Amino acid sequence: MSDDSTRPRTAVVTGASSGIGAATARALAAEGFRVVCAARRTDRIEGLAAEIGGVAVTCDVTDDASVATLAAAVEECHVLVNNAGGAAGLDKVEAADLEGWRWMYDVNVLGLVRVTKALLPALRASGDGLVVNVGSTAGRWAYEGGAGYTAAKHAVKVVTETLRLELNGEPIRISEVAPGMVRTDEFALVRFGGDRERAEAVYAGVDQPLLAEDVADAIAWVATRPSHVDIDELVIKPRAQAAAHKVHRT
Ligand SMILES: NC(=O)c1ccc[n+]([C@@H]2O[C@H](COP(=O)([O-])OP(=O)(O)OC[C@H]3O[C@@H](n4cnc5c(N)ncnc54)[C@H](OP(=O)(O)O)[C@@H]3O)[C@@H](O)[C@H]2O)c1
Repeated sequence: MSDDSTRPRTAVVTGASSGIGAATARALAAEGFRVVCAARRTDRIEGLAAEIGGVAVTCDVTDDASVATLAAAVEECHVLVNNAGGAAGLDKVEAADLEGWRWMYDVNVLGLVRVTKALLPALRASGDGLVVNVGSTAGRWAYEGGAGYTAAKHAVKVVTETLRLELNGEPIRISEVAPGMVRTDEFALVRFGGDRERAEAVYAGVDQPLLAEDVADAIAWVATRPSHVDIDELVIKPRAQAAAHKVHRT
């Protein structure tokens, strides 16, 4: 445990190369954290790290050796944001693309578990650790065509709850921030394999979907509560979205 209170607290953000992860890295840096930016696209995280005075570590959360490299670069971790993730496709169960399902489970669930396992020693070493898992309202509601993603994000919710039980008594908090519709540059594009028209249709007519910065703001808020205050979960949606199916469009 560090006894040097003047040393900056360290945050690790996975999936920091775009969208919510990049915005979260910026928000945590603005709160004074030294941010370790992790993702596969090295050029992007290096640019971000240079901008915010952080550190870039190339990391594929689906790969043991890559995650071990990340863990080796982090001696103490005060905040771990498990953000790397995404959705693939919108097929009904009957037509499920099992490779897509496997990818979603791999990155959203196993990736989160792999990184958490690897960084638990550093979270303990900080003496005051926090894990923020980026879930989704897809971890709360089913919707047609969404089962591969909703199943994975439901798993994120349950892994989060289990970890909180298992680490009870240790100075480590476990939170889930679960956004609804967020207009990021890549999420829908990745979901639809680069089909820009389908990706744009997700947000068509929606008055002000959330932005990555809105979610980053929520994560930074969770990360800056006093140590004894545990925010179990925070569901955040745009005003236009009352539920997965209930989105007001003009
Ligand atoms: N956008 C939404 O509407 C929404 C709503 C609720 C929840 N979420 C969740 O929020 C998180 C971020 O989403 P976003 O909208 O910001 O999407 P995004 O812009 O597509 O960002 C996804 C990030 O994950 C990283 N990533 C993907 N596979 C990875 C891997 N194997 N190893 C390491 N990093 C990996 C990507 O970086 P590299 O490609 O460089 O590795 C990228 O930085 C995801 O968990 C998503 O499920 C999004």
